Parts: sequence; C-alpha cells; structure tokens
Amino acid sequence: MRTPILVTRASYPDIVDRLRAQFDVTDNPDDTIWTQPELIARLQGKVGAMTAGSDRIDATLLDACPQLKAVCNIGVGYNNIDVGACTDRGVIVTNTPDVLTETTADFGFALMMAAARRIAESEHYLRGGLWTKTGRYDMFVGGDVHGATLGILGMGRIGQAVARRGAFGFDMRVIYHNRSPLSRETEERCRARYVDRETLLRESDHLIVVVPYSASSHHAIGAAELRQMKSSATLTNIARGGVVDDAALAVALSEGAIAAAGLDVFEGEPAVCPALLAQKNVVLTPHIGSASVATRRAMASLCVDNLIAALGRGPVAGKPPT
Ligand code: DGY
Repeated sequence: MRTPILVTRASYPDIVDRLRAQFDVTDNPDDTIWTQPELIARLQGKVGAMTAGSDRIDATLLDACPQLKAVCNIGVGYNNIDVGACTDRGVIVTNTPDVLTETTADFGFALMMAAARRIAESEHYLRGGLWTKTGRYDMFVGGDVHGATLGILGMGRIGQAVARRGAFGFDMRVIYHNRSPLSRETEERCRARYVDRETLLRESDHLIVVVPYSASSHHAIGAAELRQMKSSATLTNIARGGVVDDAALAVALSEGAIAAAGLDVFEGEPAVCPALLAQKNVVLTPHIGSASVATRRAMASLCVDNLIAALGRGPVAGKPPT
C-alpha cells in the first residue's frame, strides 16, 4: 500500500504529480479553506502533509492524527505551526526559505514606493473620473525614495535583500534593527548600519517590517512606536499581520502621525481591519509578496522535495525551520 498524504491547498498540478508518482495523494482541487475539524478529519491516516499558512497545525491536531510524520509548509513563515509540539511528537517540519527572498524583497520595495509616491490613491482618483485639471503643482505630492533613509525591522534574508535594493538601487541610507547585529561583512554587503529600535523609528523615512511573527514580535509596531516616527514617514509590512497593530496604524494614518503605509499582511487575514479600509493613504494587497510565477513554482517544488525527503524517499532537499 502506498503511503497516504494530504495536500491541503490547490497547487501546480505538474508539481503535485511528483507526489502522486510516489504516494497516495488526497488533495483539494477546489482550494476550499477547511475548518479545523475538517482538516483533522482529512488528515486521518495520513503520514505526510503539504500545508500552507492557512492551516493551523497545533498540539490538538497532532494528538488527533498520531500517524502524521511530516508537515511540509509552503512559505518561509511557519507561525501557523507549533514547531515545539511537532518536535515533541517526532513530526518533521519544513518550510521553503531562499527561493522567495528576492521576489518578496521586490514586492516590499514596490509597496513602499507605492505608499511613498501615492500610486494607489492617485489611480483611484483617476479611475473615479476626478482628474479634471492637469498639472496642479500640489497634486499627489509624496515623499522621495531615492536618497532617503530606509529603516528595516528584521534583517534576515528578505530584510537584507530589501537593504541591497535601497542602498545600491536607490542610493538610500540604510539602517536596521534586529535581535542582534549582522557580521561586518554582511553589513558591508548590504551597506546597512545597525541601530537601536528608537533610532530606527525616529530616523527612518521609510520603515519596512520584515520580522517573523512570534509572541515577542506581536504588535512590535503599535501606537507608541508610530508616535515616534516622522510625520512624513511611510510604514510597509510584508512580514505577518500581528507584527503591526492594524487598529493603531489606522488611527496614526487618519491623524497624520505618519504619511502613508503599504500592507500585504493583516491580523486575521483575509479579513482586513475596517478602519484601515477607510483610509486613503494606505496601499493594501492580499498577501502576494512571493507571488511571481517562477517563485510560486519554486516554492511548490521545494515543498514537494521536502515532503519526499522527510518521508525517506529521496535526498534531503529542504531545510527545516531554525
Ligand atoms: C511566506 O513565505 O511566508 C509567505 O508569506 C507566504 O505565506
């Protein structure tokens, strides 16, 4: 009998076929979002699972699915998985780092530029038929990106890729804050300087959040932090909802405490804080930071390699979270 596995979300059929060649695959071609009891029911008897950020893998689920040996998550973030509970039960966990770094950094930069230069807001204005007079000197004036100070909270792989874009592409002064400073060589490679949190908040013209979500990064940017930023600054979040306090951000945007924001991730996705939806000076996108065709295929492919390796059918290809 072939090993039974579950693929929880729809993916590229030709890539999932590599799993079908070896395992008995149950998948989800309609891409239904299952409730927790539905997920647990579908995992009964399954030895491996290809999961996504929308699946919550916790101790209750693991105890209800004792035959599960590997949870291979598509995405670099894995805050949807209780890694400690998996480790305690001998369940292997993998993610898909590296393959999405540059694409996600591109997107973060695009979102930051869209916020700074008011691209979404001005597009709505034009489509709404409000553009009746050309050449107004003060129409949608925004903040410059080139030559400005780029602040990065969280200097992992994606943070470093954002830094290189800012430093070498846009001649920005790059400062960052991280759990600990990077090596001198890495700082030189990114032309970035370590600063404390207060300096980061105070001096950034454009602050971008790239820190993984955890209990310690919950609401790392809240009302108090927003008050420390420049009123001309922008804030961009491509990390996880929950790192930024969305309700506090909506207040800061409405009061002009900061100039604009770009958000690709939200607390309680796919719901978005109504107060944010009411603000014009925020660019909102539906968690698509890694969504280029090549990168989404590379993520799926690495996830499949990881599952094959984790179930002992091939060489270890993926990296478990560290
Ligand atoms: C990631 O890779 O973590 C992306 O946010 C997709 O979930």
